[in-house]
This record gives sequence, structure tokens and C-alpha cells, in this order.
Amino acid sequence: MRYAHIVGWGKHLPSRIMTNDDISKLVETSDAWIRDRTGISERRIAADHESTSTLATQAAIAALDVAGITASQIDLIIVATSTPENFFPSVACMVQDALGAEYAGAFDVSAACSGFVYALATGADAIKAGSANHVLVIGAETTSRILDWTDRNTCVLFGDGAGALVLQASDQPGGVLSQVLRADGSGGDLLYVSANGNGPKAANQKISAGTAAAPTADSHFLRMNGREVYKFATRVIDKTLREVMHRVGWTAGEIDLVVPHQANIRILESAMKSMTIPMDKCVLNLDRYGNTSAASIPIAMTEAAEAGRLLAHHKVLTIGFGGGLTWAAAAIEWGVPKVISKPQRTINRFNTSIAGFKRDARKLFRRTESRVMDTIDSTIGKPADSGSAKSSAKTGVPAEKDLAEGTSEPR
Ligand SMILES: CC(C)(COP(=O)(O)OP(=O)(O)OC[C@H]1O[C@@H](n2cnc3c(N)ncnc32)[C@H](O)[C@@H]1OP(=O)(O)O)[C@@H](O)C(=O)NCCC(=O)NCCS
Repeated sequence: MRYAHIVGWGKHLPSRIMTNDDISKLVETSDAWIRDRTGISERRIAADHESTSTLATQAAIAALDVAGITASQIDLIIVATSTPENFFPSVACMVQDALGAEYAGAFDVSAACSGFVYALATGADAIKAGSANHVLVIGAETTSRILDWTDRNTCVLFGDGAGALVLQASDQPGGVLSQVLRADGSGGDLLYVSANGNGPKAANQKISAGTAAAPTADSHFLRMNGREVYKFATRVIDKTLREVMHRVGWTAGEIDLVVPHQANIRILESAMKSMTIPMDKCVLNLDRYGNTSAASIPIAMTEAAEAGRLLAHHKVLTIGFGGGLTWAAAAIEWGVPKVISKPQRTINRFNTSIAGFKRDARKLFRRTESRVMDTIDSTIGKPADSGSAKSSAKTGVPAEKDLAEGTSEPR
């Protein structure tokens, strides 16, 4: 039987700190109000040169270092994020490139603040199914870039950051033992960013820039009904943690540590109370980082591991909840720490440091190969462009020109 153990962890937080007092200069609020209602004192904000993928990459490098593996050993990279740089390529592909993880598949998971547990479950299942031996699971966000800094209902809550875990296949029992993933799309309007403008189109609407389908500046902002989200969160945490505990046969009294999504201290206190788990078994860092969405769980897990709060055979619960609506929990039996020799660690770090050269070499190879193919094509007389309009007539896929003129109906 195969198990998926957590063997590496890492985090990366931007260095810029924004305090509650700083926010009170932007909107009508106060340090006392934010602290009392949320437990948050400050958060980190990404610098202009940082992005979700750069934060994710730094967290991943730290996690690989702890795991004592190289990027070439990774089979799969899953990034949970709601703030990707692009629709595609995914953040996971950008991390794959930055790490030089040449044998890894890579994709993003979009499940808002539950995203990390969704990604963890997916990675663990890939290992248990035998399709991967090492999976890099990352939660990374630059939520500050989708906040409306004039909306005090939301801008006080969130922060930026990234955390990463390395999962490794093992025949030793333990690791990610079970998970519960849930969603309720009927509550999608309680917490959302509508940004991409790909909603249903009017029958005669053209697909071109500047139509009603194009995003507006306002649609890029996160919007939330705080009261209702609060009620939803307190409702699902207790129920879902009990369900996942039941699956692995654990009782509340046996739990060593809970690593929850860091949304609001009041939500967590209420959930721990109804679970009869003391608050000192709940990892907290929202006072320093705010709600870092999909990144909050791996950041908190990294801090717990670094502080020696996660020991071999500890029974650990984790739970995420947020937009979608989505929520998800996992039961983890912490593994036995790996001992990585110093020379091995040095070799691994060297391999990581040459990722940039590998990337440049791959780009150069692709460019050269493309030129060689073009030369061969022109030598054997193959037409350079077989014509998009012509091929569209055969396939039914509208050509770009047709779309711009609105003359081609999708069939
Ligand atoms: C957002 C949240 C802190 C608001 O706390 P609340 O006690 O529910 O506050 P309300 O929304 O009922 O607002 C109470 C009052 O505070 C005001 N208020 C809201 N935000 C404020 C702020 N940042 N500073 C000062 N006052 C604020 C409201 O305008 C309202 O004023 P009014 O009574 O004059 O109308 C709380 O609802 C919450 O934490 N919800 C969950 C959010 C969350 O965790 N989301 C992410 C999930 S992944």
C-alpha cells in the first residue's frame, strides 16, 4: 500500500508590512476594530516586482530544501491560487519553469481559500494511485492586487504570501490519510471576483475587445458578504472536521494539532470550542499575515513544523473554507523526519541554482529547432501558412477574422 507523506515545507512572505494603522489612513477603520473583529494586526503586501509565481517559487525552493530532493525528482506541481498572473499559462507552469522541474506535470487549482486542501488531496491521491512519487503542493496569493482599497469590508482582511509542501510516496503508514472536499455553488455570490468577463454572451454579441463581455475595472475586485460568510464558515468547520475524523477513526481528544485556514480568530475560536479542542492546539498566524487565502494553511503548517509543533505520528487536522462556496478538510498523520546529509543538501541547492540556465537552454533549443523545421519545410516546398480561414471552413471553428467581424456563428 502506498502512502503520501509530507516531507518538505516552506513559506515565503513579502517583506513589506502593512499595519492596521496604515489601513486606517486609507479607509474609515481602526486598529482596535480590526483586531477585535478579526484578530488581525498586520499583513504582508507584495512589492511591484513580486507576483504569485515568484512567491510560490521561493516557498517551493524552501520546501525542496527541507525535503532534500531536487526539482528533477518532482512528478507533479499543483498550485492553489485565486490570483494567478494569467488565465494560462498557469502559476504551476511558471513555477515548473523557474525550478527547472523538467519531469513534472503542472496545473493550478481554483477553489479560493479551500484551494490548498483541494490541491493537497489531489496530490496525495496521485501518489496513492501510483502515478507520482513526489508532488509539490503550493498555495500562493497576491490578493492585495484584487482588493478594493476603498472597501473597508474587505481590504482589512487579506494579505499576500505563499507556502509549499512536498509529498513523497512511502510504504510506511501515515501521511495524508483521508480528506473531505465539498462545494455549494448556490453561495457563489457571497464571496467572489467576477473579473474575466467570460459569462454567457448575448446571441449576437461579437467576441472582441470592448464588448459587454469584457471585464470592467470594478469586476476585478473581491466582493464579500462578511456576515453570511462568517455564518457559513462556523457552520461547516465543525461538521467537516468531524466527518474526516470519523473516516480515520480519530476522536477530538486524540488530535495533536489543527492547522486551519486563517480567516478570522472568532470563527476559529467558535469552531474549536464546538469541537472541544483547546485553542493551544490550533495553529494561528493571522495576527501577522491576515487571510492569505490558499496560502494560509501551508504557511501555518511550515511555521508549526519549524517551531517543533509537528512531531512523528502526530494526528493533525487541516481545514479550508471560502469562496465557491467551497470547504475541505484532511486528516494527516505526521511522518518520521528524514535525515538529509550535508553534501546531499549542497548538491541539491546547486541543482536548484542552475534552473535559470536550464530554462535559457530549453528556450534556445526550442528556437533553434523551430528554425531548422522552417528551413526544412521551405526546402521541401511545404506552404508556410495553410490558411486559417480555409481550415475553419472544414472544422467549423470560427477564424479570427470572422470573429472580429461577427460573421461566423459557432456551430
Ligand atoms: C468582515 C467581518 C469582520 C465584519 O464583522 P461584523 O461584525 O460581521 O461586522 P458587520 O459587517 O456586521 O458590520 C458592523 C459595522 O461595522 C462596520 N464595518 C465594517 N467593516 C469595518 C471596518 N473595517 N472598520 C470599521 N467598521 C467596519 C460596518 O459598516 C457596520 O457598521 P454599521 O453598523 O454602522 O452598519 C466579519 O463579518 C467576518 O469576519 N466575516 C467573515 C469574513 C471572512 O473571513 N472571509 C473570508 C473567508 S475565506
